[in-house]
Amino acid sequence: MAVPLFFRTLFLFLSLSLGVFASDPDMLQDLCIADLKSAVKVNGFVCKDSAKPNAADFFFAGLKNPGLTNNTQGSLVTPANVNQIPGLNTLGVSMARIDYAPGGQNPPHTHPRATEIVFVLQGALDVGFITSTEVFVSKTITKGEIFVFPRGLVHFQRNNGEVPAAVIAAFNSQFPGTVSIALNLFTAMPPVPDDVLAKAFQVGTKEVEKIKARLAPKKN
Ligand SMILES: *[C@@H]1O[C@H](CO)[C@@H](O)[C@H](O)[C@H]1NC(C)=O
Repeated sequence: MAVPLFFRTLFLFLSLSLGVFASDPDMLQDLCIADLKSAVKVNGFVCKDSAKPNAADFFFAGLKNPGLTNNTQGSLVTPANVNQIPGLNTLGVSMARIDYAPGGQNPPHTHPRATEIVFVLQGALDVGFITSTEVFVSKTITKGEIFVFPRGLVHFQRNNGEVPAAVIAAFNSQFPGTVSIALNLFTAMPPVPDDVLAKAFQVGTKEVEKIKARLAPKKN
């Protein structure tokens, strides 16, 4: 029996849209240097008048040096996305550098808009991601090695060594976004109700309050 036209059309549409939306949308011009200050909101940034493109909009020196890791988690992410490099607007790629003190970690987080691939500059890291069916995929990686974190999956890196570690990360989005799981749930404003978190984590509201107090941004 022939498959009805409606279902064939639906299937074609679904397969096309999966292909089209696997990463940032395709560009429609050579370049579109982000006007980061424009009040006009579009999907991405509106283009600056770029009759004479400036090399400075395609340049960033901020990943040269290690970032300061003397914080609670013992790590620092230095982004190199469209906010630092306006020329990345509409191009669908970006980078970051992550530094880790001995014992430091980049805590569990996801990037809603990008797959991430990291290259170890120095040191050794325990890295891992968790699939949507709760399978934990992990490995120790060292200088010169690469690991991939699939788009949207929760992942982390931890420096289990006695010397600092660093990676260069690349993303298939000009602005991958980061959802840091603990901060997202326990420091949102207005707060996520204690009883929601208590039930989700199967603990008491006292434990929830304790985590919230510890993670709250420090007031100077
Ligand atoms: C981290 O170290 C830098 C430079 O040594 C210092 O200026 C800064 O105050 C330190 N930060 C914290 C949170 O200790």
